[in-house]
Amino acid sequence: MHLEPLMELDPNRSIPEPLPDLPLPARSAVDDRPVKPGDLPLTDAAALDAPPMVEVGAFNLHYGNKQALHDINLTVRKNTVMALIGPSGCGKSTLLRSINRMNDLIDGIQISGSVTVGGQDIYAPGVDVITLRKRMGMVFQKSNPFPKSIFENVAYGLRVQGEKDKAVLEEAVERSLMAAGLWDEVKDRLKDSGLGLSGGQQQRLCIARALAVKPEVLLMDEPCSALDPLATSRIEELIFELKRDFTIVIVTHNMQQAARVSDYTSFFWLGRLIEVGLTEKLFTNPRERMTEDYISGRFG
Ligand SMILES: Nc1ncnc2c1ncn2[C@@H]1O[C@H](COP(=O)(O)OP(=O)(O)O)[C@@H](O)[C@H]1O
Ligand SMILES: [Mg+2]
Repeated sequence: MHLEPLMELDPNRSIPEPLPDLPLPARSAVDDRPVKPGDLPLTDAAALDAPPMVEVGAFNLHYGNKQALHDINLTVRKNTVMALIGPSGCGKSTLLRSINRMNDLIDGIQISGSVTVGGQDIYAPGVDVITLRKRMGMVFQKSNPFPKSIFENVAYGLRVQGEKDKAVLEEAVERSLMAAGLWDEVKDRLKDSGLGLSGGQQQRLCIARALAVKPEVLLMDEPCSALDPLATSRIEELIFELKRDFTIVIVTHNMQQAARVSDYTSFFWLGRLIEVGLTEKLFTNPRERMTEDYISGRFG
């Protein structure tokens, strides 16, 4: 499967509506509106021709004798946002964890195929996993600040790398908190515990922590699913800003979110990549019937 080339978008496109006579599956409150044209992002045309940053090729993954990913082929272009959508258990988190080799820690795992990041085959023999992970920031569903000060939460990755210079650390903390949209709210209390922040602030703190080591790729696994709508929209705006400097892969089961924040969307079902394309195209004129059924709420 390959990415669609730059295409003309039809302003009068029709949005598939759920069938009125079918019961819709239960979804969260933010999730049960159909995607509207206003939700769709304005993708910068230049981004569509950007070079590949992450390339997944003929990738299979087994947990023991259960296959969780089947022959995945996916390209994420530099400075774009790729959303991974699909029903629970379809392999989104597994794929995300395969991009920074976090699955390595799981017993009985077997993989085949390739994942390259910035052209480097990350599963090649001799790859240093610690060095590799420095190139990838990861943000999880549940924010997980360390029981340390706000400053030390953000400085953590640099300290682990051996950075001791106070000025370097201060610069990195300020830069990262600014990039995460949190600086103004915390600049006067950097010594306070990160655990004292609100849920949305904690998640932005975790994003700042991930950004501090200047990763090339930001991997986000349902980063807003524990947040209220206001905190969610802060993070969504942030994602839009962050793609200027980073390449982002975000798992979400909120289709409005995928539509709002991503340039490309890929739809997974039972461990298979059913369709990938420009977000605008996938949500308005999907190629596959199964994608259409999913985005219009016929199963989920
Ligand atoms: N550590 C694991 N060990 C065994 N099976 C797992 C593990 N993690 C996930 N799975 C299975 O792999 C499949 C895909 O899971 P996951 O990637 O978490 O899906 P998603 O993120 O789309 O909800 C599911 O069937 C899940 O039960
Ligand atoms: Mg998951």
